[in-house]
Amino acid sequence: MVEFEIKYRDCAGRICKFKTKHGIVETPALLPVINPNKTIITPREMMNRFHAEMIITNSYIIYKNRELREKALAEGVHRLLGFDGPLMTDSGTFQSYVYGEVNIDPIEIVKFQRDIGSDVGTILDVFTLPDETLESAEENVEETIKRARESIKFKGEMFLACTIQGSVYQKLRERCAREISKLDSDFYPIGGVVPLMENQQYEKLAEVIISSKMGLDPSKPVHLFGAGHPLIFPLAVALGCDFFDSSAYAKYADDDRLIMPWGTLKLDEFDELPCTCPVCSKHTARELKTMSKKERFRLLAEHNLYVSFGEIKKIRQAIKDGNLWELVERKATSNPYLMDALRVLEKRKYKKWLELFEPISKKRALFYTGRHTIHRPIIYRYHNRLFDRYKRKNYYDKIVVVPESRKPFSRYYKHVIQRLPNKINVVVDSKLGPVPIELDEMYPIAQSIMPNEVDNETKSVCKKLLRKFLDGFEIISIEDLPKYTDLSGEKGKRDLDLRRVVSTICMQFGKDADMALLKGKIELIKSKSTGKIRNIYSDKEHVISMRASDGLFTLKIAGARRLHRFFNYPQLRVVVRNECREFILDGKNVFSKFVVECDPGLRPLDECLIVDENDRLLAVGRSLLNRLEMLSFNYGVAVKTREKNLKK
Ligand code: GUN
Ligand code: ZN
Repeated sequence: MVEFEIKYRDCAGRICKFKTKHGIVETPALLPVINPNKTIITPREMMNRFHAEMIITNSYIIYKNRELREKALAEGVHRLLGFDGPLMTDSGTFQSYVYGEVNIDPIEIVKFQRDIGSDVGTILDVFTLPDETLESAEENVEETIKRARESIKFKGEMFLACTIQGSVYQKLRERCAREISKLDSDFYPIGGVVPLMENQQYEKLAEVIISSKMGLDPSKPVHLFGAGHPLIFPLAVALGCDFFDSSAYAKYADDDRLIMPWGTLKLDEFDELPCTCPVCSKHTARELKTMSKKERFRLLAEHNLYVSFGEIKKIRQAIKDGNLWELVERKATSNPYLMDALRVLEKRKYKKWLELFEPISKKRALFYTGRHTIHRPIIYRYHNRLFDRYKRKNYYDKIVVVPESRKPFSRYYKHVIQRLPNKINVVVDSKLGPVPIELDEMYPIAQSIMPNEVDNETKSVCKKLLRKFLDGFEIISIEDLPKYTDLSGEKGKRDLDLRRVVSTICMQFGKDADMALLKGKIELIKSKSTGKIRNIYSDKEHVISMRASDGLFTLKIAGARRLHRFFNYPQLRVVVRNECREFILDGKNVFSKFVVECDPGLRPLDECLIVDENDRLLAVGRSLLNRLEMLSFNYGVAVKTREKNLKK
């Protein structure tokens, strides 16, 4: 069984631990390609100098060379390459793409990889080109699935990577992914994408990745085969790729080209080296140009590796900080084709899929980078919830729209709000869309940094949403407010704090959740230092606490009991096997392998109710996974338990 566990996450990207017999690999990971015939940089150096955690080599090349084959069979592929870390092998499929047919039996090459002790071997999938006809692509997919099914019987102790093919046909990619996911495969490469990358068809590449991911079991590692250029790493990771392999470092070096985070440079074309890696710090462009080809090749390969691994580190940090999508957008500004790829992801079906994996809130503020920002999954979610969950019609019959101000909006507009009768809603026409004034502290409204002037697309999206939001209400202009204030008999009674609690509850837990959580006498306890709402008591029970960091609630067990009574199964629930009841009642975390059902509405970092198969409430916790993941992962924590249900 693959031991693969999510440690941190952002967008559909993730930092995972992948356990092999030769060690644990942290993803996203870049596997440098080692050519057993000509090693430029040894695997040991790859590990010690560049901190590669895993390498990849080609079993077909080893198999075809008698000397290498015999040594590998006798001593193992690790000894052959002088590397005792995790090692993956490819099968010869790529050679079939480059040189035409390969002369090997698909089962034979899998057995060979197993026998030489590869940690992750690969099936001989059928490389399918982007311009292949649908009919031919379908045939290749059938053959690939058939080979996967057969190969699995012979994998032994080795993890087997079963490649997803399907050319650029999205339905076919998804179907191939679904079929392969049904088999006992351990690792999913996405194949046939090298031509897309070579021609910078990133739009197609993005669709290929996302449609493959939509069909794949989310609990196993995904590898983007042949992707070695860091330009596409952030996007690929954000869409859920965990592994990359690079022969690009050597190929580009051989062609006197330098990989840069934003593209590739030809050494001839510049006088200064715009890089601070050890190679570029020690040498001038002139020195590199004039040294021997052999020496230069080695140094350029080193530079290419430094840059590529550096980009992987940036991505990991961005996942931890929760700003991976920002990194993706920033990259897109350096390559117009990447911009096209981002545009493709704005299709509704993709946004919906991406939103499933997006955590509820993030550690850092959301930064605007351009017209793509308004389409981010987290903002898409805010917009959806505003219409599905926020009680637009319950309290209000009139709306006054106020322009965006300094934050927090409610403080800036305090004078306006205080003078208004309760029936009038105050809505900020913000650069993220309409914001009812009481939601101004909720992530990502307060935690977003926008320029004074945004692009036209953002303006038009916000304008449309505002129009939809105002539909059915009487609109009051800000100038007319004194008139309404005079008419009000309820002047000064408006309780913004209570509105904030009600509306945030609905946005976070679902429409009408306030009816469960806020009954009888309500007490709001505020922080003495900041004046912000902290703890909420309803009929003397502490039901929820507001977090200062994201303006969202932590659910207390008393609140959980109420939501449990109020919402029908499976809403807000993570259902665990009855046999874990004692374990959870003891305060232990929920492991994925014990989850039998889960509310499809739960998202990573959502507060959730932990129940047994008879829907008895065991505890309250914070989910780390969405439903798809909880039901597929057999390893790792699904819910962090916070408070157990001690019956009174
Ligand atoms: N290397 C690059 N692309 C591919 C692919 O589609 N299949 C395999 N097996 N290896 C590759
Ligand atoms: Zn450099």
